This record gives sequence, C-alpha cells and structure tokens, in this order.
Amino acid sequence: MTASDQADPVYPVPQRLLGPGVPKPHIASLDEYKKLWEESVNEPEKFFGKLGNELLTWSKPFTQVKSGSLEQGDVAWFLDGELNASYNCVDRHALAHPDRVAIIHEGDEPGNVVKITYRQLLQEVSRLANVLLSLDVRKGDNVCIYMPMIPEAVYAMLACTRIGALHSVVFAGFSSDSLRDRILDCSAHVVLTADEGRRGGKNIATKRIVDAAVKESPCVDHVLVCRRTGSEVPWTAPRDKWWHEEIAKFRPYCPPVSVNAEDPMFLLYTSGSTGTPKGVMHTTAGYLLGAAATQKYVFDYHAEAGDVHACMADIGWITGHTYIVYGPLLNGATTVLFESTPTYPNPSRFWEVVQKHKITQLYTAPTAIRALRRLGNKWLEGYDLSSLRIIASVGEPINPEAWEWYNEQVGKNQCAVIDTYWQTETGSHILTPLPCVVPTKPGSATFPFFGVKTAILDPVTGKELEGNDVTGVLAISQSWPSMARTVYNNHYRYLDTYLNPYPGFYFTGDGATRDADGYYWIRGRVDDVINVSGHRLSTAEIESALILHHAVAEAAVVGGQDELTGQCIHAFCTLKPNVDANEGLEKELTLQVRKVIGPFATPKRIYVVGDLPKTRSGKIMRRILRKIVNGESDSLGDISTLADPSVVQSLIDKVKQ
Ligand code: WTA
Repeated sequence: MTASDQADPVYPVPQRLLGPGVPKPHIASLDEYKKLWEESVNEPEKFFGKLGNELLTWSKPFTQVKSGSLEQGDVAWFLDGELNASYNCVDRHALAHPDRVAIIHEGDEPGNVVKITYRQLLQEVSRLANVLLSLDVRKGDNVCIYMPMIPEAVYAMLACTRIGALHSVVFAGFSSDSLRDRILDCSAHVVLTADEGRRGGKNIATKRIVDAAVKESPCVDHVLVCRRTGSEVPWTAPRDKWWHEEIAKFRPYCPPVSVNAEDPMFLLYTSGSTGTPKGVMHTTAGYLLGAAATQKYVFDYHAEAGDVHACMADIGWITGHTYIVYGPLLNGATTVLFESTPTYPNPSRFWEVVQKHKITQLYTAPTAIRALRRLGNKWLEGYDLSSLRIIASVGEPINPEAWEWYNEQVGKNQCAVIDTYWQTETGSHILTPLPCVVPTKPGSATFPFFGVKTAILDPVTGKELEGNDVTGVLAISQSWPSMARTVYNNHYRYLDTYLNPYPGFYFTGDGATRDADGYYWIRGRVDDVINVSGHRLSTAEIESALILHHAVAEAAVVGGQDELTGQCIHAFCTLKPNVDANEGLEKELTLQVRKVIGPFATPKRIYVVGDLPKTRSGKIMRRILRKIVNGESDSLGDISTLADPSVVQSLIDKVKQ
C-alpha cells in the first residue's frame, strides 16, 4: 500500500498568512515556487549566481558558480570567490543596524534573559578571535567546542570562522570517550568549554568531562574555560585558561580573514552504518548560501517586521549550526538561544518563551511535540501564542497525530506547519513545504527546496522510479550548494557512503514514497542508523560500546518503535564463557553505553541471552531481532536458514518478560 491509498487530508495555507497584518511572503504562490524550483535545477548557475550575490557579501566576487560532479565526488560552488562567514553573519549587520538584537539568550532559569546586539556580537566574536590567534590557531586549524547553550558557544563558532579555522562542535551530551575520539580524529589543539552546564535546574560537569577526554588527547595544548555556574572545577595550568581573563587582554576588533568559497568551514561528527563516527566537512560559501536561503524562504523570515526566530535544538547538532547560528545571523535576524528543556520548570516553558519574546518562527522536534502533547493541553492555557506564524519540526518523521496537535494547539490553525527533512550532510533543508504557498499533508515533508533535484530509486537496481506513486530510496541527482564535500581525512568513506552506492546520485540512506500528488513521505533509514528522539545513532557504535564490557561476547542492537522517542534502542548480548548473568549486569551494560557514547544513547531494553539468531556462516540476523522487539514475531519469514532455529522462541520469550 502506498501513502496515496489512504486519502491523506490536505491542509490549505491558512488565510491569515496571506495578510493583511502579516509580512508579505517572500514567495507568493505555488506557481512561483514551481517556476523558481525548475529554474534552480535546470539553470543552477543563473539561479544560485543571483542568490549568492543577493544573500552573501563577497570580498572577491565569484565568476564561476558550479563545478565538479556527483560522479567524480569533486563538487564545488563559487570556486573563485572569497568571503568570510563571520563577516557575513556579524559585521555587515553591525554596520547596518548595530542596535538590533542578534541573540536572545533564554537561560535555564525562567527570567534569566540576556540580549546581545549585533554591535556587541562583533565585539565579543572579535575578542575571542584574537584570543584564538594568541593560542596559535590559524586558518585551516581545527578547534573543538564542547559547550552548553550559552552565547559564548555562538561566539566560539563565529570566532573560529572569523580567522578561517574550522570548528568541530561536539554535543555536550556526549561522554568523555566520545569527545576524546572526536578531538583525536581531527587533531584539535584547542578546546573551548565551560566550567559547568546548566539544564533543567541541574548542573552538568562539563569541564570534568573535557578533562577526562583531554587527558587522553596529547594533541590538545589549550583548554579555554568559560565561567557559567562559578562552581569550583579542577584546573591544569598552564593548559587551562579562563575565558574572561583571556578576552580581557584583547581589543574588540579582529579583521576577518577572507577564505576561498571552497575552504572548509566546519566539521560535524555524525553516526553512520559503521562503528566510528565520521567528520562531515562543510565548505564555506555553499553551506552559507544554503543556510541563508532556507532560513529566509522556509521560515519566511522578515527582519524588517521584527521577526524573532527560535530554534530549540542544541548547537551540537546540525540543526543548531544552521538554524540557531548561521541561517538567522546571515539574514540579520534575532535568534533565540534556549538553554533549558521544554518541561523546566514545567511543561509551559516553550509557551512562556514564545509569549515573552513574541516569537514568530518556532522550530522543534517531533519528540518534544509528542511529549508535550501527552502532558495535556492545560499547559498551553492562558499563553498568548498569536505572534507565531511558522511552526516547524525536524529530525524524524512527524506522525499525523503530533502534527495535528501542533497545528491546532500551538498554531491555533493559523500557522504554517513546516515538516523539514534534511541531514547533517545536506547542510540545510532538502524537502520542506514553503509556508504561505504549499498545502500540507500531515506527515509529509512535501516538496524539494530550490536546487534539490530529488529522485526515488529502486533500492536493488538503482534505477530511477519515474512518475508518482512510487516507493524506494531517496536520492538527489545533482549537486546543490550546501552539500557536504567530504569526510575529514576519509574521502573514500564519503564516496562509499553517499556517492558510490548509486553512481550519479547522492544517497540519503532514507526510504521514501512520492505519492500520487507528488508529495514526498520519508519512511525512515534503510541502513543501520537509528533515530532516538531525533538523535542519530549507529547500531554498530552501540554494539562496539557493549562489547567493551568484560562480560560481553557478542552484541546486536536494533531499533524498536516507541511512542515518545520515535525509535528506541534494544540491545541483545551474549556473555563470554564462564561469566554468569548477575543481577546488576543489565544496569552495568546500560552504564557502559552511557559512558562510551553518552546518556542520550541509553538503551531502553538490554536482554542478556544465551544465543543470537545467526546464519550458518555466523552472520547475525538483525532483521529477526527487529521483528521480535516490534511485536511482529508472527511474520518472521523463513528461519530455517538459521544455524539454530530454536533460538528464536527463547528470544521471543525473553523479550516478552
Ligand atoms: C531523519 C537532522 C523524517 C532522517 C537535521 C535523516 C527526518 C536523519 C526528518 C538525519 C523529517 C530528519 N522527516 N525523517 N522531517 N528530518 N530526519 O543528520 O532519517 O541528525 O536521514 O540531521 O534524520 O539526521 P541528522
């Protein structure tokens, strides 16, 4: 059955968005979107040449728009142009409207709000850039950022790009082992961090985690520590330096370094099918253009109307990079940096923040929407959410129930509900409705963004499935500006993962349907990646963490369905000979995963079992485990090829316990 058989409801664009009383949309009609999209994929040089000059400021203009190909893996955009990311995000706005608020920091405790203007942003970023220079950071160097959601984290990213250094932001929920691996992979010699983080009323031992990671990272010479809570932290001199002491030494201006359009801008590690995370590398101009264009068009952002853009993600993920920092700041926006959680001190927090800052664009994840929906509508009562125009979601498929709740309870049926599909590797949105013009279907990310030529391929033959009403794997048939260019120090892995599986295409790793009306529906990953609350994890990574435990012989991890988190982790482990399953073992194994990866990777269930389902050649049949945990044991298919088919029943019994 395909999606179109279900007669999905279609929601027209709410009349309110077409005015009066709201800014005139950047894109006025569905026809205009279609016309521009056609131009963007048929004449990308013309389309992006114009957009590149409109949205970005260049220190040296480009003459060539697009080069290279997906076949060759040598994609490049704006090849001979030069620019600086930090200048584009900060200076040009500080010059034009210095007193406009760039960042609203909504601290963990309600009422703890700090507003930073573009003028201040330029000073803070410059000071820090000067500090980095004093620590011998130069163009092309990698700097690791492991920080809570405080303005200094944004300064850190912009200070790196100001001097042409690459930032590698590591989500501050990662364990010290994960942080160490990411520091070592890119040989960062400077780490920027804070004494502690603060989230949901609790302190997080950020510096201690960094200490443990750096102890095993001989490449690190300097750790710059921002004071967030003021708690005492261990100190290693002269390696550790206080942020406030260092910035006080430098003047609040640092000239931006012009870089080539294709100079690398940042690394962001992400999980793939294999055990080791890969450092996805984005380059400068293409990434910036994707970020600016989508923030402008997908969020229909209007700076002149005083719009306030709030992306509730963490800067440690691509969503935070593109839609808290780069996209909004490129367009001179006011962006909200939210340090807390949707439920602290109570589940009205988002709505209190929306009301207080008169937020116009709200961007969050389906998992948060589901959790808030479950807690009940009373938490929204009495809050004025009328400033909202665009309410968006990202990270995983949004189920229609959650979509409708978001639309009715948060958007009051007066907002555009925007389900954005994209990836760390795509840099910016790939499939998304444009607000004000695209009628939506709950659960569908609708249509491709400008420049993205999507294709549905037969997963086996790789043949493109033409026309509508087709299901297969989602691919993209020509390069677009913000696509990742390589995996750090591992170009063959880049080719192997994205470009070689289906020659001539970028392979997303997701299954998808294009329904009878041409709407796209993402069906989830077709590889060994699982998505827990929008956090992307590889099953192999979790398995490797488990087998580091002395008792474990083998581990097999699969994704189960979960009402709240989308997917959840089920781990099956067999033990080494002569090891007994003591009572605390499952807990120990859980801690093991938390220690090696981080708390967000906590398995929902761990089963210590006698054996795993294996073929006669010893391959673990994860497909069978997946069915068992998802209550589909009656459709396991042919299990006679297993070395020992009797394991299956014992596994079914174990899971039921
Ligand atoms: C999934 C997050 C369905 C998808 C920006 C993708 C989605 C992976 C959606 C990338 C969506 C993201 N609908 N699935 N709207 N958005 N995904 O790299 O499986 O953390 O491949 O980037 O999340 O996760 P990543």
